Amino acid sequence: MASSKPSVSASIPNDLESYWMPFTANRAFKKRPRMVASAKDMHYVTPDGRKLLDGSAGLWCTNAGHNRDPIVAAIQRQAAELDYAPAFQFAHPKAFELASRVAALAPGDLDHVFFCNSGSEAVDTALKIALAFHNVQGRGSRVRLIGRERGYHGVGFGGIAVGGIVNNRKQFGALFAGVDHLPSTYNRAEQAFSIGEPEWGAHLADALDGLVALHDASTIAAVIVEPLAASTGVLAAPKGYLQRLRAICDKHGILLIFDEVITGFGRMGCAFAAERYGVVPDMITFAKGITSGSVPMGGVLVRKGIYDAFMQGPEHMVELFHGYTYSAHPLACAAGLATLDVYREEGLFERARKLEPQWAQAAMALKGLPNVLDIRPVGLTVGIDLASKPDGVGKRGLQALEVAFYDHDLMLRAVGDTLALSPPLIVSDAQIGEIFDKVAKVIKAVA
Ligand SMILES: Cc1ncc(COP(=O)(O)O)c(C=O)c1O
Repeated sequence: MASSKPSVSASIPNDLESYWMPFTANRAFKKRPRMVASAKDMHYVTPDGRKLLDGSAGLWCTNAGHNRDPIVAAIQRQAAELDYAPAFQFAHPKAFELASRVAALAPGDLDHVFFCNSGSEAVDTALKIALAFHNVQGRGSRVRLIGRERGYHGVGFGGIAVGGIVNNRKQFGALFAGVDHLPSTYNRAEQAFSIGEPEWGAHLADALDGLVALHDASTIAAVIVEPLAASTGVLAAPKGYLQRLRAICDKHGILLIFDEVITGFGRMGCAFAAERYGVVPDMITFAKGITSGSVPMGGVLVRKGIYDAFMQGPEHMVELFHGYTYSAHPLACAAGLATLDVYREEGLFERARKLEPQWAQAAMALKGLPNVLDIRPVGLTVGIDLASKPDGVGKRGLQALEVAFYDHDLMLRAVGDTLALSPPLIVSDAQIGEIFDKVAKVIKAVA
């Protein structure tokens, strides 16, 4: 087909039209772009040379800080040594090494790792493993998947079906049959201004018993929850909630999946939030922090009993009909190994745990500023709810993000009218103060 476009191959390098940006108000962005050109440690640098303090670890992922020398060097070395190895029927040594290292960080008998390239793929992989596990065990009627309101599990069809965000679901038809949802664990009237896990709300796990009563356990394959619902505003699990969910799943033979795409790799002061809560789920999904955001990678940690259930039948047969061309990509594995070394050598998970009280105290100092409805610090992250403007939900949040970026040299996340902060785990004491000083100015500016 003849193109009506003029031949302009390289003549308009700064044209913003072609790139359809993800989860972005494209037209607003393109009128006033927020660009970054480089980064180092705790800072981004804009094309015009302004240094921004990174209050959000990119998109909750650069837990070791930006462009860390050992990670950069590992990626460079790997690119020169082995660019790609086929993921099916062949492998390269670093894939096994990284799987072993990740499994060693996980609690209990979460001993096996299936690699993919993102959190969304990790979620879809875990859901598929859950269905297939019951299938190979002769329980083919267990096909229902249970998510939770206000849950975010990425953007694959499985992930949006179990997810609980209306906007992420309503454009995409009927999604996936046989999905149901637990209620959100957040209740402002009961929990506002809680530090850490709220006292109120463990009983909300009992809604799973209600779903079992409705559907029957024999039809339910798995429950998937985030130990901390980060993307919808940093909603910590109430005290005792996850333990109760585990007990109910056990009672009914339902698999429990923790989506730790954000909480994995130190955000909650442990390798995985599962450790913080003393709960061993049947699977853990991870991504983001595994490579500190440097190369796309995701994965699913799987308990031994699940893996073993597949390792039956003729040995020449594929056991799980699932995988990605870039599963365990050499660059991602090299980046992952170097990142885990940085976490270990610098004690970054412990550091996050140690900083948590100071972080929470600094966040709580924002209480009383205009429009602040709730502040929820937990781990090394916090959600700050601002009242919506009368003329539209999300306008104050977007304005805060813009004011932070342009006027206060701060990168933060805004989800609707909630500000979310989650700095790299290398954040210094002084930088914690700097982040919240800037946030206070931003909140005042958007009053
Ligand atoms: C809990 C959770 N699951 C899944 C995802 C999706 O990850 P990705 O954007 O890498 O597909 C995210 C992303 O923020 C997430 O927070």
